[in-house]
Amino acid sequence: MVKSLDMPTPQTLLENNAIWAANREKATPGFFKQLSAQQKPKYMWIGCSDSRVPANEIVGLDPGEVFVHRNIANQVQHTDLNCLSGVQYAVDVLNVEHIIVTGHYNCGGVEAALQSQPCGFVDNWIRGIRDNYMHHQDSFKDLSHEEMSDLMSELNVIKQVENLSHTRIVQNAWEQGKTVTIHGWIYRLNTGLIHDLKVSRNGSDDVEPVYRALPLR
Ligand code: CO
Repeated sequence: MVKSLDMPTPQTLLENNAIWAANREKATPGFFKQLSAQQKPKYMWIGCSDSRVPANEIVGLDPGEVFVHRNIANQVQHTDLNCLSGVQYAVDVLNVEHIIVTGHYNCGGVEAALQSQPCGFVDNWIRGIRDNYMHHQDSFKDLSHEEMSDLMSELNVIKQVENLSHTRIVQNAWEQGKTVTIHGWIYRLNTGLIHDLKVSRNGSDDVEPVYRALPLR
């Protein structure tokens, strides 16, 4: 049996925090004072809540450099006030230049969507992944479960990039001439490496006409 890792106590976390803050301040005097005055991140990250995919850490960004929204299976749903409020703030107020949707292989949310047994309330949340699976079901023929799960994780990211590009928030930003590029990336847990799915969108021309928020010219 594999020995479980020793989990630190909450008190240890507080002690870790004090050490981290002291080290950070020592390395860059005035770091926190400067950060507390304003945030000017260039990036918004939309990722999975999975504890193994910490946004800042895996792309080497410091506090203040990335505005983060995470939920189960990195969803961008057009009825999700939480995600859309974050996107609006990031685009309209912070003026981020890049929104990166980052999924990951071996995602519990994606795995759950591929199963036919009920998973509880979360079934509502991952319903879109099941719909997406059905939409692409021909692509899944003759694949092993691992291959299916990997492909579904990628298709899930691509779908969320599309959903994001269909929002009025992003459409309006493009119409106003703002530079906002949406990226679709995927992270492999067992290598720590991110792969660019090369499905970036940076203007209304990248969006099917039926989803464009403003009249065609
Ligand atoms: Co996940």
